[in-house]
Amino acid sequence: MRILFTGGSGKAGRHAIAYLLEQGHRVLNLDLTPLDLPGVDNRIADMTDAGQVYDVMCSYAGFDELEPGTGVPRFDAVVHFAAVPRILLRPDNECFRVNTLGTYNIIDAALKFGIRKVIFASSETTYGVCFADGERKPDYLPIDEEHPTIPEDSYAMSKVVNEATARSFQRRSGADIYGLRINNVIEPHEYAQNFPAYIEQPDLRRRNIFAYIDARDLGHMVDRCLAVDGLGYQVFNVANDNHSVALGTSEMLQRYYAGVPLHRDMAEDETFYSNAKAKRMLGFAPRHDWRREIKG
Ligand SMILES: NC(=O)c1ccc[n+]([C@@H]2O[C@H](COP(=O)([O-])OP(=O)(O)OC[C@H]3O[C@@H](n4cnc5c(N)ncnc54)[C@H](O)[C@@H]3O)[C@@H](O)[C@H]2O)c1
Repeated sequence: MRILFTGGSGKAGRHAIAYLLEQGHRVLNLDLTPLDLPGVDNRIADMTDAGQVYDVMCSYAGFDELEPGTGVPRFDAVVHFAAVPRILLRPDNECFRVNTLGTYNIIDAALKFGIRKVIFASSETTYGVCFADGERKPDYLPIDEEHPTIPEDSYAMSKVVNEATARSFQRRSGADIYGLRINNVIEPHEYAQNFPAYIEQPDLRRRNIFAYIDARDLGHMVDRCLAVDGLGYQVFNVANDNHSVALGTSEMLQRYYAGVPLHRDMAEDETFYSNAKAKRMLGFAPRHDWRREIKG
């Protein structure tokens, strides 16, 4: 597929793009900074400027596309990752502005140019646990996509607003728009770098509900979203199958989640951040387990 990917120069996007290129997709990366990766084309543009977004959305990806002499081809899909990716980077109101306006512009332009598949990055933070003031426990476990999304911070608020924006655009257009409630992204080098500390101090992972998503498995998730059509508007939790700490589920329930209702029986190392919907509807099958990666 011919894909417009936004925010591909960032932590998550660079791995997702590499995965998509491996699957044979063509990718144009819209970002404020270029991604230096063979096979990917870049366009420097600010997504908060609708004019720039509209231009890139109907643009040649590279010089080779001038050759056929048949005009600009249409993108088959848009994958939208560009964002201010958390609180405490930019002023709160700027984070909210960039993320909500950028997402509006990207989805609006995609649909007006006739693109029928949009995949956008939402976040685990929508569930309100990650950036809470103090400790906020989930309403129930495992957290699935039905769990309430009432966060307290500007970043997660922007993601909840983006989900509402996407849902409304989908209703009018009938296109497929899938939101990914991505958990904490782990790049390959971060297993050796960070996981020894997570083994020693599992509390470090409480705000991520003890989950994680391997950056390459996130690429696979995006590819599954590209492959499966006809689901309309959907949100999917995106996480690996197990916890990111070396504790068993029953011990963690006792230590961290006393009094939190359990909606079903859980396996001993099963993530509290349910990826069951993505597995069931998309055939999501994450492969990179931190225990094997840390050895490698
Ligand atoms: N990293 C995580 O653990 C995590 C977890 C959940 C959700 N997410 C979401 O996944 C997406 C990617 O996250 P990331 O960690 O790669 O973030 P990142 O900051 O590393 O990458 C984001 C990219 O967006 C670009 N960008 C920012 N503002 C832009 C603008 N106005 N116009 C064009 N490009 C702009 C940046 O230049 C950057 O390359 C984000 O939407 C983020 O909210 C990330």
